[in-house]
Amino acid sequence: MDFGLTDRVAFVAGASSGLGRAAALELVQEGCRAAICSRDEDRITDAADFIRDEADVAADRVVPLVCDVTDEDAVTDAVAKTVDAFGGLHVLVTNAGGPPSAAATEVDLEDYREAVELNLMSTVSLCEAALPHLRTAATEDDHARIIMVTSVSAKRPIPTLALSNTARAGVQGYAKSLADDLGPDEITVNTVLPGYTRTARLEDLADDIQAETGQSYDEIEADWADQNALPRIGEPDEFAATVAFLASERAAYVTGVALPVDGGRSKHLL
Ligand SMILES: NC(=O)c1ccc[n+]([C@@H]2O[C@H](COP(=O)([O-])OP(=O)(O)OC[C@H]3O[C@@H](n4cnc5c(N)ncnc54)[C@H](OP(=O)(O)O)[C@@H]3O)[C@@H](O)[C@H]2O)c1
Repeated sequence: MDFGLTDRVAFVAGASSGLGRAAALELVQEGCRAAICSRDEDRITDAADFIRDEADVAADRVVPLVCDVTDEDAVTDAVAKTVDAFGGLHVLVTNAGGPPSAAATEVDLEDYREAVELNLMSTVSLCEAALPHLRTAATEDDHARIIMVTSVSAKRPIPTLALSNTARAGVQGYAKSLADDLGPDEITVNTVLPGYTRTARLEDLADDIQAETGQSYDEIEADWADQNALPRIGEPDEFAATVAFLASERAAYVTGVALPVDGGRSKHLL
């Protein structure tokens, strides 16, 4: 299938590792030019080198940017730099790290505020900054997409991830609202909900469980895998392939969807 992504411009946030980096790599392999951001200059520069090497593309097709997505001005600046570098923006992938593990009563107001800033408000500010450029892309090139990385915890909250459960639910509500608002402009808005996928974040969560229960990493992984229809942990490239499809021209009539990429962990009928 031709995804129609050749020379399209993507901005992928939280892309120095894990799911963000995998999504950026997949988009570049499908022909996109990409700006990628994270908080750390060395890590995002390394990620850009990794993507160029893996995709075998010229240096100027991947632009690393330092941007903390909780800083509204930095977000505006990063999106402006993307448009300066590539002349437009067709695909926005919102992403960041996940908040710490905790049950609902183990955290305080400030923890909730930080989680909402990290996962919800960053999504809103990325969309606000990108929207004028996405509207231009929808008008001139008939191709503008917003893809938000959330979590399976948005569909079935995970008791030890109260901060994530809370912030992701907000993102799902925002995505649905935005999909309706932007439909007349032919801009699609979808969320992708990773299940347990092999990244640094998963190792951090395993460390927390190990500290609490004394289980080995293999036992923790087996417990996670057993919850899925496909009894294994996901790989970042499996997640990334879904992002690339939603970014593609072929996904033009898919909007307002919350798509789990979770090996069948979500057991809901719909
Ligand atoms: N992996 C899973 O199993 C899984 C499952 C469900 C949901 N998720 C969610 O999916 C998202 C991505 O997870 P992941 O597994 O890819 O985690 P990861 O490997 O830890 O990657 C997180 C990325 O976000 C960047 N980042 C963190 N805070 C940022 C900020 N304020 N501004 C800009 N960039 C920031 C990090 O880069 P720097 O440190 O260089 O800034 C890194 O590139 C997270 O929200 C996570 O909770 C993951």
